[in-house]
Amino acid sequence: MRSLVLLFYLFLGLTIAVVQGQFVPSPDPLFTPDPVTEPSTEEPTTPERDPNELPLGEECNEELCKLPDCRCSTTDIPGGLLPRNTPQFVTITFDDAINVRNIETYRSILYGRKNSNGCPSGATFFVSHEYTDYVLVNELYNHGYEIALNSISHRTPPDYWATANYDVIKEEIADQRIQIAHFANISTESVKGVRLPFLQLAGNASFQVMADYGLEYDSSWPTSAYRDPGLWPYTLDYASTQDCTMPPCPTASIPKPWVQPLVSWTDLQGLPCVMADSCHFTPDLEDEEAWYKFIVGNFERHYFSNRAPFGFHIHEWYLSSNPAVQAAFVRFMNLISNLPDAFVVNSSEVLEWVKNPVPVDVYRAKPCRQWSPRICFSRDCGPLAGEHNEMIYWFNVCNVCPRVYPWTGNPLGR
Ligand SMILES: *[C@@H]1O[C@H](CO)[C@@H](O)[C@H](O)[C@H]1NC(C)=O
Ligand SMILES: *[C@@H]1O[C@H](CO)[C@@H](O)[C@H](O)[C@H]1NC(C)=O
Ligand SMILES: *[C@@H]1O[C@H](CO)[C@@H](O)[C@H](O)[C@H]1NC(C)=O
Ligand SMILES: [Zn+2]
Repeated sequence: MRSLVLLFYLFLGLTIAVVQGQFVPSPDPLFTPDPVTEPSTEEPTTPERDPNELPLGEECNEELCKLPDCRCSTTDIPGGLLPRNTPQFVTITFDDAINVRNIETYRSILYGRKNSNGCPSGATFFVSHEYTDYVLVNELYNHGYEIALNSISHRTPPDYWATANYDVIKEEIADQRIQIAHFANISTESVKGVRLPFLQLAGNASFQVMADYGLEYDSSWPTSAYRDPGLWPYTLDYASTQDCTMPPCPTASIPKPWVQPLVSWTDLQGLPCVMADSCHFTPDLEDEEAWYKFIVGNFERHYFSNRAPFGFHIHEWYLSSNPAVQAAFVRFMNLISNLPDAFVVNSSEVLEWVKNPVPVDVYRAKPCRQWSPRICFSRDCGPLAGEHNEMIYWFNVCNVCPRVYPWTGNPLGR
């Protein structure tokens, strides 16, 4: 604290010196001084940034870019480990609203699962606000799953996101973090991840917002070029070498946030697909055995090469409307929980390992991650008017009911 005060006075002193310097009368009568801009006395509340001023990311220098805070975009295993000493992480992720229509699936396929080290398995929910039941978000959090962001409005068309600037992303993503922590009564710090709707990147903008608001990683950027071997997570201090399948991709140097690349699967004809439910040439939707082999085949591409995290990204409706696919998913989860060197984890746990990579036997021996459940005094809210449309909403929260249905620009519905 004392050093902060000292810094402040130093800064004040410097500012005064500069301002005084500008008032020194020029001895040259031909010299007209530039108009003096008054230094602002107020701290800016939101960081101001002109996207054109960002430095361009340069080619990555592995000597300068080192863990735990910097990593070049590469398929190399962190820490220079051999594949057989590397834990194979599996990340299960679901998108969109959480409500009574999908919670039963989550309960039946996820709850109570454990990895071979005895620790609970993770999963990550990229939640969008509209139609979300926050009491159920609180329930998922209390079962140890990671809650992450998929925007407040989830607006169409995807082009809205492609052209979204800093302020739009701030209202959709940074404000959603406050919103979800408030209504689900979960800790703000536990919300670390971002997935843009439709996996539509917004150039530098979302990463700038993440850097400024302390969001740790993005999970929106697909790669089909780095499937075999797969791309590991990396930072944007330097230029990314990842293929840009959904432009615009970030090209500025933006330290702090991590990219967790979505390594595509390969369908039965060899074509890439990012979400398991977006594959074109899939096995018959009623053929559980064929689906199990399809999933395991994609997993093995990671497990038998550089062990880049294996992502299983899917929408709940695909599982609930295709019981054979759901059964194959459960069989796959059972397979993983019997492998001594594979672990189903929250997305943010992958990053924790990447920042401080340790061999698989050391990782296995670590104590399980602890989390403290948060009480939810639930309330059923509604009817609430939508201020952005003509709709009437009902929703459940772990807090006092808002005045209107929350939306961008008014995330707490006050
Ligand atoms: C991102 O920032 C870089 C560096 O300033 C710039 O060249 C690039 O055009 C920006 N990207 C977008 C989509 O604005
Ligand atoms: C998953 O992530 C949440 C939020 O970061 C954390 O509280 C929880 O402990 C994690 N669960 C597991 C099983 O690691
Ligand atoms: C939020 O969680 C905390 C910690 O469990 C609890 O003390 C508090 O009463 C909860 N608030 C609501 C409104 O549910
Ligand atoms: Zn979505």
